[in-house]
This record gives sequence, structure tokens and C-alpha cells, in this order.
Amino acid sequence: MKENISKRNDNFTSSLGFVLACVGSAVGLGNIWMFPYRLGEYGGAAFLIPYLIFIFLFGWVGLSAEFGLGRKSKSGTVGSYEYCFGKRGMGWFGKKIGWIPLLGSLGIAIGYAIILGWVLRTLWGFVSGDLMTANPGAYFGAILGDFGSVPWHIAVIAMTCAILVSGVSNGIEKANKILMPSFFVLFLGMAIWISFLPGSGAGYEFLFVPQWDKLLNIKTWIMAMGQAFFSLSISGSSMIVYGSYIKKDVNIPEASLRTAGFDTCAAMISALAIMPAVFAYGIGAGSGPVLVFLTLPKVFQQMPFGQFFAIIFFVAVLFAGITSLINLLEAPTEHLQENFTNSRKAASIITCVVSLVVGIFIESEPKVGAWMDFISVVIVPFGAVMGAATIYYILGWDELRKELEIGHGKMPEIFGLVGKYVYVPLTIIIMVLGLMYGGL
Ligand code: ALA
Repeated sequence: MKENISKRNDNFTSSLGFVLACVGSAVGLGNIWMFPYRLGEYGGAAFLIPYLIFIFLFGWVGLSAEFGLGRKSKSGTVGSYEYCFGKRGMGWFGKKIGWIPLLGSLGIAIGYAIILGWVLRTLWGFVSGDLMTANPGAYFGAILGDFGSVPWHIAVIAMTCAILVSGVSNGIEKANKILMPSFFVLFLGMAIWISFLPGSGAGYEFLFVPQWDKLLNIKTWIMAMGQAFFSLSISGSSMIVYGSYIKKDVNIPEASLRTAGFDTCAAMISALAIMPAVFAYGIGAGSGPVLVFLTLPKVFQQMPFGQFFAIIFFVAVLFAGITSLINLLEAPTEHLQENFTNSRKAASIITCVVSLVVGIFIESEPKVGAWMDFISVVIVPFGAVMGAATIYYILGWDELRKELEIGHGKMPEIFGLVGKYVYVPLTIIIMVLGLMYGGL
């Protein structure tokens, strides 16, 4: 059995620093380019009912479990699976399967960095003023081919690498303490400005007028579940790694619920900053890359002070994305550091170079699209199921409970029951439905 020995002594310095880093991981493209559209499309205010139920459930028993395992094993992804299976004399097996969620984190990071390269390039388009007059379709189209966005892609990876190299307390924690509050302030400012635009009311109607009948449609519940799951970054990997950097006095269930709460606020603020603007200019609401790279630039071109708000918007998206990318790349970085190099600097640089080299070959839009579909539909949900099942069934509720009670006090028995009999089956359902629908 693997003992809890770690060469690391770099941890989050406070509960707030830890929560902000987790919020940084959770708040990302999912909140910005998926949530606003889903909220309106699947029932407006009515959608919030299933969404909040799933956010609470996954935040409470899902995130707490991943953080708890990380802190208990004091290891990253692979080491944590080895630790759990080691308790049953099968550490070798855990060590092997732990690679699946680890590669899931790396895989998502590779695609995410490419997309953030597009964000950076669009930001530059507004800073230089070119995109105030150019056709957004033509501007975006210019970088979608093979090796189409190499410099922007390199810049994103270099920024992320600089933070990773500085370590957990000096790099990850400090960066999140600056970038996350800035994200909230920038988006909130934008949401307030946009509320004064004539015609924005239609956007609020789209977002909030409840369509209760949508609650009778199973797809609404499926979409809410998938959205909540992706948004909280539950993947049986990177949140375990962040958990391994927390001190014993942190109240894990409380920190998990705070993360889920801030993530939901970020999603709501994104909805308020985006949809009313889109509707004010009579452009059809959409989601994903079309929304961010085609629709919104058209909106900013017409809006008063559009250049200024476009810069604010893309800076904030970049902040949200980079803080998620840091978390995704931390999983392989930790693994290299602990098992191979013993050097934070070398581990971070190797991880970033590998992500860049692989990513450069899939920069074209169809390739990165297929890559992200495969990783996010197959590998990541499978990793999440493995994480949930390993924690609740292999490590077991009794062991998890002991860890969670440190810094929290007595845990209710219902927590373990919900974890075992509701949360784990739901992760399996998410995986199966994701395969059926080609992603949730
Ligand atoms: N949870 C992150 C997002 O929503 C990965 O983009």
C-alpha cells in the first residue's frame, strides 16, 4: 500500500485561496458559452430548478469527495487511485487506471489552450481596432486552418506555464486571487452597462420568463445535469490534485459548496452580460464558439463604447479560461514532479511543451472539435465515474467520512448514502447519456 509520503511542501495558504483556485477551475468556457444559452433554451427560470439541484448535489457529495481523497492521500491523480486500491491490496491496479483521468485532464487542456488562443487573438483584434470594422466571420475564419493560430496558442501556454512554474502558493493561488475577482468585477460591470441598452429586455425575457412545461421534458433535466457536472470540473482528476494541497483545518464540505455557489454566480452573471446584449441588437441567441467569436463581435461593433466593452469581455474570458487551464495542467505537472523530475520548474515546462506540441497539430477547427468531443464525451466522463466509484466504493464512506470530519465536525450519515446511491449512479448516467447524445 502506498504510504502518505509526499516530497511536496507547497500548499494553499488559506481556505479562501483554495476556494478561489477551485472557483478559477470551475468558472470557464462552460459558464460563458454554454450556460446562458441553456438557461434560456431549456425553460428560463424553470431551468434553474434542476440546475441548482444538480449543482448542490455534485458540489456537496462530488467535489467534497474529490477534495477529501486528495487531502487524505496527499497525492495527485494516479497516486490517489493507487492509495484507494492499495487499501484492498491492489495498488498496482489503481496506479494503472489512474492514468485514464490524468490523460483526460491533459487532453482537455490541450484543446482548451487552442480555444483560448482564439480568445487572445480576438482580444487583440479589438485592442488594435481591426475587429471593430472587419467581418467577424472572415476574421475568425482566418485562424481556423491547420497551424492557424500558433503564436496565440504559444502565448496562452506561456502565460499558463509562468504561473505553474511558480508553484501552488506563489503561482496558482496568487494568480487566482487576482484573476477571479477581476473576472467577477469585469463581467458585473458589463452586465450593468448592458442593462441600459434599449431592447435588452428581450434578453431578460429569454433568460428568465419561466417555461414550466420544459420541466416535463427529460432533456431539460439531462442538460442541467451535464452542465452542472462539467461546470464544477468533476473529472476524477484535477480537483483531487487541488485537494491534495489543502491543509487539515479547511472545512472541505463548506469549501465545496462555496465553490459551487461562486460558480453558479459566475454563470448567472455571464448570462446577464451576454444575452441581453445579443437580443438588444436582434441577433439570434446561440452558444459555443459561434456565440463568442461571431455573434458577440457583431454586437460589440454596434454597441456604444463597444471597443472598450469588447476588450473587457475578452480579457475576462481569458482570465476565466486560464484559471481553468492551470487546474487542468496541474494534474500532469504534479505527476511528473512527484514521480519523475522532483523539480517544479522542469515538470511545469515539460507538461506545457507537451500540450503545445500535441495541440499545434490539431489547431484546425475540425480537428480540435473532434479531439474535444472524444475527450469530453468519452475519457472525462469515464474518469469521473472512476473517481466517484473509487472514492465511495473502494476507499469507502467510512474512510472518506474521517477525512471530511477533520475541519468540519461530524458528517451526517445521509452524505454517504447520497454519495453511494445517488451520486455514483448519476455519474454513470451522465457518461451513458453523453455517449448517446454525443456530449451533454
Ligand atoms: N469547468 C470548466 C468550464 O466550465 C472547465 O469551462
